[in-house]
Amino acid sequence: MTAESSKKMNKENKITVLDFGGQYAHLIAKRVRHLGIYADIMHPDVTIDTLGKPGGIILSGGPSSVYSKKAPPFNHEILRTGIPIMGLCYGMQLLANLLDGDVKRLDRHEYGKAELEVAGESPLFSGLKRYEQVWMSHGDSVTSPPEGFDIIGSTSDCPVAAIGNEERKLYGLQFHPEVKDTPSGARIIGNFLKICGLEKNWSMESYIEEKMKEIRKRVGNRNVFLLVSGGVDSTVTFTLLNNALGKSRVLGLHVDNGMMRKNETAEVKSALGKLDFDNLIIVDRSDDFLWAVEGLTDPQEKREAIGDEFMYVKDRELETLDLDPEKWMLGQGTLYPDIIESGGSKHADVIKTHHNRTDMIKEMVEKGLVIEPLDQLYKDEVRMVGERLGLPHELVWRHPFPGPGLGVRVLCSKGVDSSSDFEELHERVAAKAGSAGYDSIILPVRSVGVQGDSRTYAHPAAVDGMLDWEKLELLSTDVTNEIQGVNRVVFKIGGGELKPLKSKAATLTHDRLDIIREADYEAMNALRKYDLYEDIFQMPVVLLPLSTDGEKECVVIRPLESSDVMTARFYRMPEACLNEIAGRIVALGSIEYVFYDITNKPPGTFEWE
Ligand code: XMP
Repeated sequence: MTAESSKKMNKENKITVLDFGGQYAHLIAKRVRHLGIYADIMHPDVTIDTLGKPGGIILSGGPSSVYSKKAPPFNHEILRTGIPIMGLCYGMQLLANLLDGDVKRLDRHEYGKAELEVAGESPLFSGLKRYEQVWMSHGDSVTSPPEGFDIIGSTSDCPVAAIGNEERKLYGLQFHPEVKDTPSGARIIGNFLKICGLEKNWSMESYIEEKMKEIRKRVGNRNVFLLVSGGVDSTVTFTLLNNALGKSRVLGLHVDNGMMRKNETAEVKSALGKLDFDNLIIVDRSDDFLWAVEGLTDPQEKREAIGDEFMYVKDRELETLDLDPEKWMLGQGTLYPDIIESGGSKHADVIKTHHNRTDMIKEMVEKGLVIEPLDQLYKDEVRMVGERLGLPHELVWRHPFPGPGLGVRVLCSKGVDSSSDFEELHERVAAKAGSAGYDSIILPVRSVGVQGDSRTYAHPAAVDGMLDWEKLELLSTDVTNEIQGVNRVVFKIGGGELKPLKSKAATLTHDRLDIIREADYEAMNALRKYDLYEDIFQMPVVLLPLSTDGEKECVVIRPLESSDVMTARFYRMPEACLNEIAGRIVALGSIEYVFYDITNKPPGTFEWE
């Protein structure tokens, strides 16, 4: 027996994903698990000993260029183990570069959907049609494959979109099979698992059992104090902790931070009351939170201040109840995307710091004082856990709501926009919008976005014209792909003729929170009236400090379809509901224009901050 075949005989029934800092490394592991095979994640410089003998390896995407000095170190010995490898996006470029293929930065970057033409008969693409929709997010491309590799797929902008060396079982895909926008992605990953010779043996039930054991072990003889917003993540965490440890060792605190939706705290109280949780306290700390964010305009500073305030409230509550902080760990309903998008993996770019990943909390995590039982999961998996734990349908399927709540949906501004290229951006967008039959302006605010694994903080463009979703999606994708200073496009659905807007000085005040609370309330009620609430994954309603006359403000609605928040497509709402939302919001009296966000993720994030 050769050394190589004996290694294969002893292989573990799992996949190891090497994380190059891509936004999707964990999503890859999740997809593999859902196909019934365990997957873990390791750093790319892992030693062969630590790596062990996974049945296959997947190299994730990442924000670097393979030529960059900052590219994550990779242990080249891994290529000599004989283990089948599939490289995705950056992972493919790395494979090509190390095996003497060519990788180059091309002028036109590719973000979004593309059509793959399958070539040849690779088992990796077994069962695929000749043309398949795939999803791309890259600047660099492989321009010529390494020796021994065939081109097994191409798109119009990327002639070398998929490569394979069948003999060595090495593959590279420029697109992302792990995201839902590659509809045959699960089949491709499944094909790779077959190529690796792995057997199905993982399930959600076994995961819950393992988690409960792990909670008991980690908490030991301590207890857990948990902030319960009433959203699906914190409620599932609370239930899981109660089941694992017993109610006497778990204490939940629901804080009204003044940034909640209309009637939110009352509804949470009633929903959780029905679940018989007598270990939940409810407090109103809205004044403290408003004071903590007073005068702030920078989104990261606002999030940090809100996140820190939650910790001060927790400390004060423990003191009031005379509970020893050493004996009470902090529980959090953090999901994997919160960590990865806050720059949590070693090589990931910070998209933005979620409120449950501030420096103060990271310090507590390092000291082992935090327990986050859902930190390996995505939203759709948390819902699966919630259903298996017997939580009511309405609770499990509530739209997600961020911890800082409306606080990150009220955009703030110093009243000046320092961007020097504003005019140029306007002209470039106007040329594209004009040729599609739309008027356009650039909005003098910035919003957070994500492009090819990196964060952006750029201007949105607004367009006005016919409601034609196909045309609007094409325009939005074209503008954000080609014009680097624009990361979002919105479509005017309410208000008069579209005129240039001015930004005004505005911070996070009680009055502005009340405006967005009412607008959100009206928008959500319209969704329910048209029975569309569960068709939409989430619909942030955002207040922009913009107007033509310095008096009113603008609102954006952002309805999205998604399953795991890492990617999303803007929802195409029936016109009657859309008009009703616009009409209700304009009728509030303080809003000049209502916009509808027509940006997918990427390049836009869900929230604007
Ligand atoms: P983004 O804006 O990052 O949002 O595309 C993805 C999901 O995360 C939610 N989100 C947050 N949740 N604390 C939270 O608990 C936060 O600071 C935060 N920021 C975003 C967002 O609502 C969406 O569901």
